[in-house]
Amino acid sequence: MSSTSKIRKAVIPAAGLGTRFLPATKAMPKEMLPVVDEPAIQYVVAEGSRAGLDDILMITGQNKKAMEDHFDRAPTLEAALEAKGDSKKLESVQKATHLGDIHYVRQGEAKGLGHAVLCGKQHVGDEPFAVLLGDDFIDPADDLLTPMIEVQQARGGSVIAVMEVDNVSAYGVIDPGSADTSAEDGVVPVQGLVEKPAAEDAPSNLAIIGRYVLHPAIFAELEQTAPGKGGEIQLTDALEAMAKKPTEEGGGVHAVVYRGRRYDTGDKLSYIKAVVTLASEREDLGPDLRSWLKDEFVPGLS
Ligand code: UTP
Repeated sequence: MSSTSKIRKAVIPAAGLGTRFLPATKAMPKEMLPVVDEPAIQYVVAEGSRAGLDDILMITGQNKKAMEDHFDRAPTLEAALEAKGDSKKLESVQKATHLGDIHYVRQGEAKGLGHAVLCGKQHVGDEPFAVLLGDDFIDPADDLLTPMIEVQQARGGSVIAVMEVDNVSAYGVIDPGSADTSAEDGVVPVQGLVEKPAAEDAPSNLAIIGRYVLHPAIFAELEQTAPGKGGEIQLTDALEAMAKKPTEEGGGVHAVVYRGRRYDTGDKLSYIKAVVTLASEREDLGPDLRSWLKDEFVPGLS
């Protein structure tokens, strides 16, 4: 990351009900579902850490204990692994505790992503900050947050990440106006945002993915944002208002177009794809998994 970046704080909303993953998420947050052998949220925190975001505020709900325990030391387990001389497993257990300074705040009621972000107001204060959705991460070999942080520092306002998609009605979508969305630097000024539009009404095929670098003026906007789609306070609605405000008031929104690989672990099919993709690329599991898929699984498909 750029050593001049002043952005160190990340808010990670992880208080959603995770209804698409019931019953697995009845007593456990979906962010703790394992992607191979690390919970999804650990990939998210590590992604932030790589971009210099080492002050992390998790927005949690009723089932927060598993997350707190995961990012904390585990003295009994660590002592047992040490006694066995299993340094590899010990290292894997300790990895999650070195990713940053992690704080927690409860959302109380799952009133939407916008409301979850607003719960971070006191911790964040008056400085730009990142928001990383806890059930969604980009490929560990890529870096999306650093360019987003750089765009925010250079242009002010807020920055969102977008990807080209086919199924716009499942996402928030940006209106780029007449801007060239294939610009080489991948930065597009945003005129407006629409939450889950019907395909025929969508202003573009650029869908908002779970990474944001926000101006702190977003908090005042969220406080005034009425419940929108699904009766939830939508971050998209507040960003739509910020896009129309002048820069002096913290307004202006730019989108960074991401063309790499992204994994969504909040949805069953995408989750399974994420696990298979990442496992098939691992040195320890990949060769066996790939030959099983190729020689036994795929030939058996009808
Ligand atoms: P989602 O809309 O994917 O989460 O929110 P959800 O509501 O838990 O999903 P389903 O549809 O019921 O399965 C994206 C992110 O925002 C967080 C979620 O935990 C997820 O990381 N979120 C959402 C909150 O923290 N609070 C909320 O009120 C809503």
